[in-house]
Formats: sequence, C-alpha cells, structure tokens
Amino acid sequence: MKIVLNKDAMLIVKEQDVVPFRNRVKEYAVKIGMSLVNQTKLITAASELVRNMLKYGGGGQTLIEVITQGRDSGIRLTFIDKGPGIKNIADAMKDGFSTGKSLGLGLPGTKRLVNEFDIKSVVGEGTTVTILKWKHG
Ligand SMILES: Nc1ncnc2c1ncn2[C@@H]1O[C@H](COP(=O)(O)OP(=O)(O)O)[C@@H](O)[C@H]1O
Ligand SMILES: [Mg+2]
Repeated sequence: MKIVLNKDAMLIVKEQDVVPFRNRVKEYAVKIGMSLVNQTKLITAASELVRNMLKYGGGGQTLIEVITQGRDSGIRLTFIDKGPGIKNIADAMKDGFSTGKSLGLGLPGTKRLVNEFDIKSVVGEGTTVTILKWKHG
C-alpha cells in the first residue's frame, strides 16, 4: 500500500513556471535521498510532461507527492489539465507521434524513465498523467 507522506501543489500557466516546478521536484527528490541517476530521470520526465501540459493543455495543475511503500520511498507527480484531451492515447504513446511538429518522443520517453506511468484523457475535458519514481528502483 502506498502512503502519501507529503504533498505540494503548483499551478503551471506560463513558461516561467517550469523552472520553479523543476526545482521543487528536485528539492523533494534530494530530501528523500533519491539517487542522482533517478533524480535526473525524474526531472527529465517532469520537464517533458509539464511542457506538454503547457503546449497542448494550456497549462494546469501539478502535484508533487512523497510516497512510501514498505521500505521503499519515491516521488509521485501528477499533471492535470483541462485542455482538449488526447483523441487516441495509443497513438500518442508511439515513438515519433506528434501533433505539434516536434520529435514525439515525450510521452513514450517519459514512460521509459519512470517506474509507473499512467495517462487518462477525455476529449473535451482534459488529460491527467501520473508518474512515480522510486528512490533507487
Ligand atoms: N496534455 C496534453 N493534452 C493534449 N494533448 C497532448 C497532451 N500531451 C500530449 N498530447 C498529444 O500527444 C502527442 C504526443 O506527445 P509527445 O510524445 O510529448 O510528443 P510531442 O510533445 O513531441 O508532440 C502530442 O503531439 C499531442 O498531440
Ligand atoms: Mg512532448
């Protein structure tokens, strides 16, 4: 069972909100003693998802949570936007798929960097992405 030890919400509405968000994620990762390699993976994934949220979702809400499960601990990040949603998640998760003329490696790349990845999207309602990275896993 996952237990939430601490949580922190941040609103992302403009490009200038990205760096403070990344810094906050880093602070929590350092605080729980996450390995440097995993910190880098988590922050890379977080940057991509927050950029997607701004670019495609028009901004939204982020949640940073410190999680424990048994002897393990980690960071869970949630990205919630009320944008247009994703028509076909299976397509969006394919390497090279982009509606924004970019590389399209964001979502599948992000998934490869973390331990848990969940995406829920409803057209016309928005998108929620949740990732979890364990301290050493
Ligand atoms: N938050 C979001 N809201 C709506 N559509 C999104 C969102 N995130 C991703 N998408 C869609 O999924 C596609 C794939 O995303 P991604 O893999 O990050 O590639 P890229 O950002 O290079 O386009 C995007 O081109 C976009 O169509
Ligand atoms: Mg992207």
